[in-house]
Amino acid sequence: MRTLNVALIGYGFMGRAHSNAYCQVGHFFDPPFQVRRQVVCGRNRAGAEELARVWGWDEVSTNWQEVVTRPDIDLIDIATPNVLHAPVALAAAAAGKMILCEKPLAASLADARAMTAAVGRAGVPNMVWFNYRRVPAIAFARDLIERGALGRLFHYRATYLQEWGNDPTRPINWKLSRAEAGSGANGDLNSHLVDTALWLAGPITEVSALMTTFVPQRGDFHVDIDDATAALARFASGAMGYFEATRFAVGCRNRNGFEIHGEKGMLRFNLEDFNHLEYTDATQDPSLRGPRRLLISGPGHPYVAHYWKPGHAIGYEHTFTSALADFLSALDKGEPVHPNFEDALRVQEVLEAIETSARTRQWLVVKTGE
Ligand SMILES: NC(=O)c1ccc[n+]([C@@H]2O[C@H](COP(=O)([O-])OP(=O)(O)OC[C@H]3O[C@@H](n4cnc5c(N)ncnc54)[C@H](O)[C@@H]3O)[C@@H](O)[C@H]2O)c1
Repeated sequence: MRTLNVALIGYGFMGRAHSNAYCQVGHFFDPPFQVRRQVVCGRNRAGAEELARVWGWDEVSTNWQEVVTRPDIDLIDIATPNVLHAPVALAAAAAGKMILCEKPLAASLADARAMTAAVGRAGVPNMVWFNYRRVPAIAFARDLIERGALGRLFHYRATYLQEWGNDPTRPINWKLSRAEAGSGANGDLNSHLVDTALWLAGPITEVSALMTTFVPQRGDFHVDIDDATAALARFASGAMGYFEATRFAVGCRNRNGFEIHGEKGMLRFNLEDFNHLEYTDATQDPSLRGPRRLLISGPGHPYVAHYWKPGHAIGYEHTFTSALADFLSALDKGEPVHPNFEDALRVQEVLEAIETSARTRQWLVVKTGE
């Protein structure tokens, strides 16, 4: 079996989620590659050493520039604050490495374009960790839509609701800084909603948006990003879209959900109820019609057969393992995996249009592929 030597840049929340995927992928899938946890890199050596100890990485480094050019490294995994995605990815592509990158692809549309062009020029396999595509219920929603179960789509309503912004005692972190994150709720949360929407309902052609910073001053720190973003959108299909991403949805921890209404039915999902998908079949006898709460844990549902028997729930961490398995399988076949940089660039185009619309108070056409 071929071996892939991985360098992970960033040992925070996503550093752990990705480490778990590298550990588990060989247990639940039958990947054509052996993935070796070679080196983890972060700013703080003690932090990197701790992650290496817990998750079994062979080496640690505090210098990503040196790591990305190492001849023994095949794959660079970027799990850093958003502003670093571009420099690391550009250096990794120039060094001919495969790249897995966290979302949003970049802190700006210009960076996202440069990164996508760079992996294209270098011809290196690439993926973006929009992990929610691997939630079995979301992947099953996509199967149902592809099969025509909803028919023509009318409404696509998506919300990503967190509440941590409302905690004044919470320490300042990079997610509150434009210089490090590029944007707030838009890039952090709305990026997930938009990726899922483009995957389930197709391209978005225009947007009109509103952004707010509820708490612009936290102690001495000036918050220069959006605490909340809302947008109206028009899909190429003619469907209407509604997006709301906020860190001030008091009462909601991580409520990432959608409701989709089509001529033949409705689908409803919320990440806080990970293993369920609600489905209304509007072609049924009206007297029997109503939302059915489907338990998406097999049989016949995406990904779950790799884990446990039907009805035995899985969770957040499995989405990363499944994404990695898809990447390795596509790599073996010489095919692109999705979502890749190109797909994530489409997301970034929508995010940028939303930001510009909010600033200029105008409807904006989403410009694709420039
Ligand atoms: N897919 C998801 O569900 C999901 C969830 C959370 C975060 N994310 C994304 O993952 C990325 C990381 O977020 P996080 O929550 O893990 O952040 P975090 O703050 O927990 O970790 C960031 C890591 O980056 C490292 N880092 C920062 N500057 C560095 C440098 N110059 N050189 C090397 N390492 C450096 C830090 O040492 C730290 O280990 C972000 O892009 C974020 O948007 C994705």
